[in-house]
Amino acid sequence: MSTVAFDVNGSSVQVDLSARRLSDVLRDDLRLTATKVGCDAGDCGACTVLLDGEPVSACMTPVGRLAGRRVETLEGLHASGEVSGLQSAFLAHGAAQCGICTPGMLVAAAALLRVTSAPAEQQVMDALGGVLCRCTGYRKIISAVMGVQTAEIVEQSPPVGKAVGHRARRVDGARKVNGADVFGADEAPDGALIIRIVRSPYHRARFQLGDLVGYVAAAPGVVAVLRASDIDGRNRFGVIPATADQPVFAEQEVRFRGEAVAMVVGEPTSMAALDLSAFPVTWDELPPVMSVDDALAPDAPRIHDGREGNVLIRGNVRRGDLDDAFAATEVDIEGVFETGFLEHAYIEPEAGYAQRIGDRIEVQVTTQSPHMDRLELEAILGLPEGAVRIKPTAVGGGFGSKLDLSVQPYLALAAWKLGRPVRITYTRPESMMSTTKRHPSRLRVRIGATLEGRLTAMDFTGEFDTGAYASWGPTVANRVPVHAGGPYVYDAFRARTVAVHTNGPVAGAFRGFGVPQSTIAQECLFDEVADAVGMDRLEFRYLNALTAGVPTVTGQVFSSGVGYRDCLEALRPHWTRAREEAGAANADGGSVRRGVGLAGMWYGCGNTAMPNPSTIKVGLRCDGRIALYQGAVDMGQGANTVMTQICADALGVDMSRIVTLGADTDTTPDAGKSSASRQTFISGNATYHAATALRARLLLLCGASDEAHLELEGPHLVAHDHGETTVVDLGSLDADEDGLVAVDTETYNPSTTTLDEDGQGDPYAQFGFGAHMAELDVDLELGTVRLRRITTAHDVGRAVNPTLIEGQIEGGVAQGIGMALMEEYIPGRNENLHDYLIPTIGDVPEVVSILVESGDPVGPFGAKGIGEHSLIPTAPAILNAIRDAVGAGVRRLPATPHRVLAAIAQGAAR
Ligand code: FES
Ligand code: FES
Repeated sequence: MSTVAFDVNGSSVQVDLSARRLSDVLRDDLRLTATKVGCDAGDCGACTVLLDGEPVSACMTPVGRLAGRRVETLEGLHASGEVSGLQSAFLAHGAAQCGICTPGMLVAAAALLRVTSAPAEQQVMDALGGVLCRCTGYRKIISAVMGVQTAEIVEQSPPVGKAVGHRARRVDGARKVNGADVFGADEAPDGALIIRIVRSPYHRARFQLGDLVGYVAAAPGVVAVLRASDIDGRNRFGVIPATADQPVFAEQEVRFRGEAVAMVVGEPTSMAALDLSAFPVTWDELPPVMSVDDALAPDAPRIHDGREGNVLIRGNVRRGDLDDAFAATEVDIEGVFETGFLEHAYIEPEAGYAQRIGDRIEVQVTTQSPHMDRLELEAILGLPEGAVRIKPTAVGGGFGSKLDLSVQPYLALAAWKLGRPVRITYTRPESMMSTTKRHPSRLRVRIGATLEGRLTAMDFTGEFDTGAYASWGPTVANRVPVHAGGPYVYDAFRARTVAVHTNGPVAGAFRGFGVPQSTIAQECLFDEVADAVGMDRLEFRYLNALTAGVPTVTGQVFSSGVGYRDCLEALRPHWTRAREEAGAANADGGSVRRGVGLAGMWYGCGNTAMPNPSTIKVGLRCDGRIALYQGAVDMGQGANTVMTQICADALGVDMSRIVTLGADTDTTPDAGKSSASRQTFISGNATYHAATALRARLLLLCGASDEAHLELEGPHLVAHDHGETTVVDLGSLDADEDGLVAVDTETYNPSTTTLDEDGQGDPYAQFGFGAHMAELDVDLELGTVRLRRITTAHDVGRAVNPTLIEGQIEGGVAQGIGMALMEEYIPGRNENLHDYLIPTIGDVPEVVSILVESGDPVGPFGAKGIGEHSLIPTAPAILNAIRDAVGAGVRRLPATPHRVLAAIAQGAAR
């Protein structure tokens, strides 16, 4: 076999020409896994390396072209020390969140810095333009590259007792910037078999599997084919047990394009080239149901037995007499808004491996919900509780979709049945067609107000396409009615929702659980009401804002921690300035019009009206380190760092003494899933209580009072108490099997109530509030929109780590921009990152983040969640700015140029 020789990071390598791509050689042969693969198609830039000093996509570089050439990867740049300044700058600026894009960003930036040591913003944007990031919103990446020469090399630990509020670097940041973080596809036992999944090419079809025994015997390298009849437990999964309905493998009928019917397991050498079109399956395509209207039609095919009219569930909140309120209203405005499927588009496709160890199965996988995964896999395999261990890898972005099972059941089943380790990495199209999406929606809103601008009534109806299976459909249907009115006060309110099955992709959780959609309808119609009563749009919101002591639409009353008006006040000077600037810019006419838009939001942290516990363990090791067993998956949002900061201050020790141990179902208690913006609030409280209990235990050990100052000096615990010093030699104490000489485990479960038949009750223990303002230019001839600036104000209660919060806000803004202007997933049409467009570095303008700290009576140190909040008001603020510019609004998202042109024509006709 002929070979090719080239240089990688200063060492000569020789590989056979059968290897297809440079990315495969780097990752599989040389184990240089800092080079990531997000698409294998040249679209994402995660695989960026330097070839003779120039950035290239390794996935698009055939090894045949490499003879005599020089390849550099992040590992090489890290080892040489060339990127140490960049790495430090990325950590100082919070430029790495999940970290999956970080190697590609660093490599591209390194090439730029070889040319210019102090690049301008546009140079950075040009150089990094080929690398996609779904987490950060790019602004902190730009700041890091531009600030490379001024970044502190060594971070000072915050003073004891001051960790909360400090801009601490990520405790897990070093391995994100040196390429050592292990993601789902980065690791597997030697010899692991490869899984390929046979999926439906149709939205709806009946099918029959053919001669599988003959297929296995004839296909080189294939070890086994597994299907529904190989499942010993329950061929069903779903995040909500009462509606779990999705089969691991379809039986007889598939309900969406991409649904699995079987898997082929084989030797690594054969599986990449395996042609699945030869797999023995025959399809009988059936007419699919592809819209809510079709699904609700009287003669529509029934997608699931027992779900009458294809309705999965309905939701509802009612308060006050709606008819009376509308009868007394002076301004009455209605509107219908529509949104489509949205793809999460994290850069890391689903991946992992599994191995059978005796009577147990270990699954190492990218996931947001390890304990839920464990329970579901035990049910699928028919194994007793505790037989499955989930070891989460670093998560290269999740945003809700990695709450649901994806690769896990296939890995666990194959490893269990075959007794050999197995691995799988979804291709980008496979990831996009088979995993969950944001619910498409049709939202009808009617709002009433007095001529003085006081809101009287709101009537909301939301129809959500929940796709083929239930997933998080019930959560969306129940959360939206609570939030549909926004953080405002009405005399009467009604919100009704319905989640409807179609043969579309499964719609699940995506940053906000339906609230981003409903907020678009409510906040866009608000501008029309404000205009109708002749009020300034910000002042209209301020007048009607929810405040402490006033009941919400569910009758819940918060005595404090309601900071919505504070957010509007923070934005007011920016609003005034932006409106004046827009007026001046538009004074001369011309083909470009400036617009300014505003939108508010609220969001309840945690599950809706349900128990939502988290358990955290904290112990003192005999070596004098604090071990924080925190099972809240950190998918880039910063849970590892936030919990460490809370732990440090609750214990009263230096943050650097804490070793944070991430999620593993065998070693960390169940902190629940990373979703619903719950971890800072709920797991943060569990951390606070566990650390506080441990502090009391340590004080007792030292015979010290509550006021004592604790220090950990090597293997000694030292207490300074009113001039007395006590030293405890930790080596003299009995340690448990984890090496802990003192330990506490605490659970926190927020106080909520179930909702009655009118949706009345206390669904959340805490709400976060916020508002965004968009400034933009609309080209009246082309219908294009150029964003100039997004200014945000969020009530975060207490900012545990301002840098991480700003990162969440900027990332949420970027996803909101995608939702507003460019993204819509159409099954079978754009199942890749070439045709499904997400914001690039050039699409995100300056983002100004104002953190409002109203405090919260139940948050740890007063902190609230922020993860989902940050996305919710961006799209309506942009849509309102477009309407402000052109005189008419876009009501079908995304606001692509043809829809903006239609709005311009409508505005001109008025
Ligand atoms: S993996 Fe190479 S560009 Fe996406
Ligand atoms: S940090 Fe860029 S994709 Fe997650």
